[in-house]
Amino acid sequence: MRKRLVAGNWKMNTDMNSGYLLLKDLLSEIKEDDLKSCDVHVYAPFTHLKVFHNSLNGSGIVLGAQNCHHKDSGAYTGEVSAEMLASVPVQSVLVGHSERREYCNETNEILAEKVTVALRNGLDVIYCFGETLEQREGGDHFAVVETQIKNGLGHLNAEDWSKVTIAYEPVWAIGTGKTASAEQAQEIHKHARTLIKQIANETVANNTRILYGGSVKPGNASELFGMADIDGGLIGGAALDANSFAGIIRA
Ligand code: PGA
Repeated sequence: MRKRLVAGNWKMNTDMNSGYLLLKDLLSEIKEDDLKSCDVHVYAPFTHLKVFHNSLNGSGIVLGAQNCHHKDSGAYTGEVSAEMLASVPVQSVLVGHSERREYCNETNEILAEKVTVALRNGLDVIYCFGETLEQREGGDHFAVVETQIKNGLGHLNAEDWSKVTIAYEPVWAIGTGKTASAEQAQEIHKHARTLIKQIANETVANNTRILYGGSVKPGNASELFGMADIDGGLIGGAALDANSFAGIIRA
C-alpha cells in the first residue's frame, strides 16, 4: 500500500513574517490523525528553511526546498546546492517543476543531474513532469512525459527509487483553475507507472507514489485522489491557505 502524500509548493510567495504565520496556521490545522493516513510536505522558499525546520521539529511534517543546483559546489553565484539543503536540514527537494523547466531552461539532462546530486546528499526527491497545452492538443502528451521520465530518472536503481516520488503536473492546469479530469490524470499516471516498471521493475513501480498537481482544491481533491494510480497531490495556490491545504489533506 502506498501511503498518500500531499505536498504544498509555496513557490515565490510569503516573506519571512507572513510565511511564519502561515506555517503556524498549518501546524494548528493539521492534526496528528491527519498524518496517520497521509504524509504532508511543505516546500518553502530557501530563506524560510532554517526557521521552518525549527518550527516543524517533531510535527511529522516534512520540510523541503523547491530546487537545488545540479553541481556539488563551486562558482555558481546565487545558487543553492543539495549539500547546503541537507545541512539545514531539509529532507526533500522538488526537481523539474514546469516553471523551472520553462523560465530557467532546465532540461531533462540537467534535471537528471539534480536528482543524482540530491539523492547523493540524502535528500528525497519529488520529480515533476507534464505536458504543455500545445503538446496535449498535438496529441504528444504520452510521448512528452515518457521522455521526461526516461531522461530524468532512467539512471536510477531500485534503491534510489525508494527516495523518489513523481508528480504529474500538466502545465495547462497549473495556476489556471483548469484541472485535468480525474480520467485524464489517471491515464497519464498509469502510463507513468508502466514506464517506471520498464526502467526499474514491477515492485518499484507499485511502490512509487505518483502525485497529481494543477489547480487541486478541497472540492476536487477526493475525486482525483480516488483514482487507482493517483497517490496524492502537489499543491500550489491552495497550499497558501491553511484551511484549504488541510481540506485537501483530509480528502
Ligand atoms: P497550482 O500549482 O495548485 O497553483 O495549480 C501546482 C504546482 O505548480 O505545483
